[in-house]
Amino acid sequence: MKIGILGSGNVGRILGKGFVAAGYQVWISSREPDSPKHVSWKQEVGGRGDVVSFDEAARLGEIIIVALPWSSLKDVIESIDPIYLKNKTVVDVSNAVHFDNGPRLLLDDWSVGQIVQDLLPESRVVKTLNTISDKRMVRPNFKEGSPIMFISGNSPSSKNQVRAILNDLGWSSIVDLGDIRQCRLQESIMLACVISEIQFQSPGSAFALLRQ
Ligand SMILES: NC(=O)c1ccc[n+]([C@@H]2O[C@H](COP(=O)([O-])OP(=O)(O)OC[C@H]3O[C@@H](n4cnc5c(N)ncnc54)[C@H](OP(=O)(O)O)[C@@H]3O)[C@@H](O)[C@H]2O)c1
Repeated sequence: MKIGILGSGNVGRILGKGFVAAGYQVWISSREPDSPKHVSWKQEVGGRGDVVSFDEAARLGEIIIVALPWSSLKDVIESIDPIYLKNKTVVDVSNAVHFDNGPRLLLDDWSVGQIVQDLLPESRVVKTLNTISDKRMVRPNFKEGSPIMFISGNSPSSKNQVRAILNDLGWSSIVDLGDIRQCRLQESIMLACVISEIQFQSPGSAFALLRQ
């Protein structure tokens, strides 16, 4: 499986490395793919990963991951030739939060995942991984148990694909919340997680479902 990641920030690099370790071919992407800032990541992943332009990552990936700051997301997606994203599973891990005066969602009655689906009507958007810190996205092992990962999206087959790649990253408890409108729940849960982390001074926390 070939994965194209839009972004090469904290999330893009960590997911890219995790997918390479799981046996995937990965392209992360940047406005400056040839910048020296990418050298150490390239050395770490060896021949199974590279840093390319946004267009190239979208063209080469069979599954595309959107790992961009909210402020640049629309511009980057609109800069990509839509043919490269057509009929592909597009995984959105983004959040839109502002931190002044306490963390709050930027989009009151809408969501980033729905916006990505609206921008890419011919792609199958699945929201996931936005509720967990980048440092715990791969092999999320906690001494207190297994965290839950949520998915939402309109296409059952794309959600199955995403379940499979999440399994390969080490996620075993996956809850399907429903169609892409439900990603508003995931973006709210992310904020609840961030606020909990601040209150408990416990960065890298995650939600789990306690079962009898
Ligand atoms: N970090 C986390 O723990 C975490 C967890 C869950 C979800 N998320 C979400 O995942 C997304 C990515 O987070 P991140 O922490 O990886 O972000 P980041 O470290 O700030 O990464 C920024 C990436 O976006 C690219 N980019 C493209 N256009 C840009 C522009 N105009 N301005 C700034 N950057 C631009 C940058 O590429 P260049 O190389 O061109 O600068 C870089 O690759 C965000 O929506 C975030 O909310 C983050």
